Amino acid sequence: MIYSRIAGTGSYLPERVVTNRELETRIETSDEWIVSRTGIEARHVAADAEMTSDLALHASREAMRAAGVGPGDIDLIVVATTTPDMVFPSTACLLQDKLGVRQGAAFDVQAVCTGFIYALAVADKFVAGGGSRCALVVGAEVFSRLLDWNDRRTCILFGDGAGAVVLTAADGPGILRSHLHADGSLAHILRVAGGIAHGELRGHPFLEMRGGEVFRFAVQALSSCAQETLAAAGVAVEELDWYIPHQANIRILNAIAEKIGVPPERVVTTVARHGNTSAASVPLALDTAVRAGKLKTGDRVLLQGVGGGMTWGSVLLRWSPAR
Ligand code: UT7
Repeated sequence: MIYSRIAGTGSYLPERVVTNRELETRIETSDEWIVSRTGIEARHVAADAEMTSDLALHASREAMRAAGVGPGDIDLIVVATTTPDMVFPSTACLLQDKLGVRQGAAFDVQAVCTGFIYALAVADKFVAGGGSRCALVVGAEVFSRLLDWNDRRTCILFGDGAGAVVLTAADGPGILRSHLHADGSLAHILRVAGGIAHGELRGHPFLEMRGGEVFRFAVQALSSCAQETLAAAGVAVEELDWYIPHQANIRILNAIAEKIGVPPERVVTTVARHGNTSAASVPLALDTAVRAGKLKTGDRVLLQGVGGGMTWGSVLLRWSPAR
């Protein structure tokens, strides 16, 4: 049996940091409101000329360095993004060229804030099925460009960034289980209802959200999905070493952790400094934990995402970087 395992991780945050204090000068809000309602203190925002594929390139190079692989080794690139550089080619194809990878498949996955979980689960199936030996899986976003910066209910929440992992074939796990879900009937609670047609912008080009409904949905969906994945793998919640959820709002993270019974010291949180970076949030948090030396070989790690669609899902893995 072939398994996939994460051989290396990387991440990238744009240089410019926008603090709550800066937002106070632009819209009617306060650092106190934002921190107490979301846990967010600051977020990174990409420079005008920086595209999603640029952020992805930095994160990918770091992940490839950590895994000890080069452009000649990568045989699959999956990029999770809601903010592609252009309608087509895919950001994965643009990234492939920037990396100098000349073989294998490259495609994007669009599941908004669940994007990295979807991409990782898809790449795992490729590796476990023998279709790939060395996959690059990336979550990258310039989400700041989807925001109405005058809408205080949404613009305070999000930021830009990228995270990447190299997934290689191995004799043992690695990735243990994954579960993916979607409910398209909830499209209206979180969306950007705009697009291009006949050379014109159609619809509303900014993020719209029913915050309370998304909040309640996220807590319910991720807590039941965590239980589904742990039960399927035969892993008790007490055996979980790290919980790395989508970084949306500290109150959402805490509510899920409490519901499933994970103590706060086993939850990786980066939302304070990154905000919600959509598809980049889970690989950014994973890389932050790896570089802080938190993850030890053999640790059981649960990754989770939830976002527009609505979409949600889990990946449970044993941390075993192949070096
Ligand atoms: O990946 C998933 C992406 N989405 C999310 O994660 C969002 C999930 N939802 C949330 O995180 C929360 O619903 C929010 C943080 C968006 C809002 O928190 P809340 O506790 O649900 O607040 P609320 O929407 O009920 O608003 C409370 C008050 C309102 O004023 P009134 O009507 O009570 O007078 C808002 O107008 O707070 C006001 N408000 C603000 N005040 C200062 C809303 N945004 C702001 C703001 N600064 N930025």
